[in-house]
Amino acid sequence: MLVAIGECMVEIAPAGDGNYKFGYAGDTFNAAWACRMLSPADDAVRYATAIGTDWISDQLLEFMAGSGLDLSSVTRNPARSVGLYAIKLEDGERSFAYWRSGSAATALADDPGLLESSLRGANQALFSGITLAILPQDGRDNLYRALSKARDNGTRIILDPNYRARLWPSADTARAELTRFSRIANCVLPSFSDEADLFGDTSPEMTADRFTDLGVDEVIVKDGPAPALCAWDGHRAFVPSITVDTVVDTTGAGDAFNGAYLAARSQGAVPSAAAAFAHEVAAISVQTRGALIPRDTRQRITSQPQ
Ligand SMILES: Nc1ncnc2c1ncn2[C@@H]1O[C@H](COP(=O)(O)OP(=O)(O)O)[C@@H](O)[C@H]1O
Ligand SMILES: [Mg+2]
Repeated sequence: MLVAIGECMVEIAPAGDGNYKFGYAGDTFNAAWACRMLSPADDAVRYATAIGTDWISDQLLEFMAGSGLDLSSVTRNPARSVGLYAIKLEDGERSFAYWRSGSAATALADDPGLLESSLRGANQALFSGITLAILPQDGRDNLYRALSKARDNGTRIILDPNYRARLWPSADTARAELTRFSRIANCVLPSFSDEADLFGDTSPEMTADRFTDLGVDEVIVKDGPAPALCAWDGHRAFVPSITVDTVVDTTGAGDAFNGAYLAARSQGAVPSAAAAFAHEVAAISVQTRGALIPRDTRQRITSQPQ
């Protein structure tokens, strides 16, 4: 079982007719969704988050339930509601506006006991730099302890640093926290552009080296349409992506990659094969509007996850 921990928000997106429609997305949720769509039915994928008790939180919960995710670790906070973002589309360019500070998910790590129970029984636990950025320092410290304990109990800890400058109090805090959490991660799934922004890396090799030096034994550096650098157990391989003629929307491509990668790994694929499978899924993601991969993705790809 994979457990993903983070925030799923309500999205307000242009419907194409001058009106807007609701959607639901968030990096760790997008990855959990992809993993659910690409895993055998008997392999559970759990999403751990906190939402409110109002109608829009109900609506979000209903949507998540429709994906087949295990929602036993979704907690309800009557004092808060869910985060929200709106998309503006202009000449194919998307701009985002967010209302997420003080969302229910920012309190998801307030209770160490709940965190611990959400991780119980997990082979893999995924969180991201966005999960960390939205938490208060106490929440981050609780999550750190819970993940360390889970790792000691045999859970593989997976981090996508997903650096978003505006969510962090400062770049120094982001660097310090992402470095601290990387040291307890077994696997890190960064995107090169984020790492170049935050750490000044000048090549994917430099990114892989930095995480390897922190003790991470499996690093996959995504790099948009460029090959992904896979570094594991002393191996290094560049795995090429799929060429896509018409890119429709790259939102969530990295998240889809993560979910597919982890689904393939838990079905026995080695990192380079899992990355090749993840590229196929991410290629479908960039040809699809929105952050979530289509429900029929599995049928649309030719290769097996292992
Ligand atoms: N233009 C593209 N053509 C084909 N695949 C792409 C393209 N952009 C992204 N991808 C796929 O999405 C994955 C993640 O992209 P990337 O931009 O690195 O991550 P993120 O979406 O997190 O910023 C890539 O490894 C690749 O598989
Ligand atoms: Mg990303």
